[in-house]
Amino acid sequence: MAEKPKVLLVDDSLIIQKVGKQILFRKGFNVILADHGEMALKLFPNQNIKLVILDYHMPKMNGLQAVKKIRSSVNPEDAKTPILILTGESNPTELNKLLEAGANDYLNKGRLLKNPEIFLEKVYHLLNEEGEVAKYKKIKLSKTLSPFVKDFLKFTQLVIDNFMASGSISQSEMEEIGEKLENAYTLFSSGEYVGVIYEVIEGDDYLPVHTVNTTLLMLMFGVSLKWEKNKLIEASLGAFFHDFGCLLLHIPVLVNPKALPQKDYADYMKHVEEGSSLGKTLGLPANAQKFIENHHERLNGSGFPKQKKGEQLDDISQVAGIITLFDSLTSQYGIHNKMHVSDAINKISSWNTLFSEELLKKFDNFSRQFDLKPDE
Ligand SMILES: [Fe+2]
Repeated sequence: MAEKPKVLLVDDSLIIQKVGKQILFRKGFNVILADHGEMALKLFPNQNIKLVILDYHMPKMNGLQAVKKIRSSVNPEDAKTPILILTGESNPTELNKLLEAGANDYLNKGRLLKNPEIFLEKVYHLLNEEGEVAKYKKIKLSKTLSPFVKDFLKFTQLVIDNFMASGSISQSEMEEIGEKLENAYTLFSSGEYVGVIYEVIEGDDYLPVHTVNTTLLMLMFGVSLKWEKNKLIEASLGAFFHDFGCLLLHIPVLVNPKALPQKDYADYMKHVEEGSSLGKTLGLPANAQKFIENHHERLNGSGFPKQKKGEQLDDISQVAGIITLFDSLTSQYGIHNKMHVSDAINKISSWNTLFSEELLKKFDNFSRQFDLKPDE
């Protein structure tokens, strides 16, 4: 049997020793404990220790002194050992001193107690076990995102109730909903929900607009199609997340991806898979997943990523295609000039091999009822 990897955990706090040891022990590590830097340095040399987890403020020898000693070890393997600082210290100048002295990363002790998966993500990252890192990233994501998904479901439920009660939606109501969705998107991409996972793509201001527009269109068109409420809520959730794969992959949303060189097109197509994997992590309902996974598929099999066709694409899948295309065509971004609403509808309606004629007709009727994109 392979030897269990050794981790040296150095902290004068018994709670941290106990909790840290328990978390690591469960993951199959051999945990060696030390109360302070001096004790750690006696236990450390030539022991094939894979990771040192070090507190900053400790009696006898503090974390900074210990980092310096470890980095100047006689044994070159010892000197390279990854060091994770686990501290209550939050002053960035102090934390920087530790990094400058050679520590690899740090984590606040409070977060270890509250979110062990963040701790494990860092541990595995320092041990170069990226497969494990991905696992803990996903757990972290789903934990932080599930309150968002719950809020979203509650909110769309209200919107739909209003729609159904009044049979229509006023311009001001529409703006209010749009604003809420925009706030949700901003929270999302600013890291409020997901920490460092998402970064807004520089120069791409279309994705947030596209996200909000598509969700609004889904809500409104769904009501006009008289979809059952749950189906509509779930599809709208899918509409909100449908292009988040682009955010994960750091690529902009495009209106005509087929115009890209082959390699870039192949990269672009991956956003669907990424989005779908995010949806699974979040535990999104089946109808939301369908929206995400099929929004680029077309009835005649010319779509991507799976070239689904005919009966493989139900109404949610086709509506996803119609409204995302409609929003792309009628938006101004990058080098793409927006089309007028009526031209876009004519264009989409002419693609009757891509979507069912019946749905295209319904979308045409729906778009005439509402003043879509009134700032044309
Ligand atoms: Fe897309």
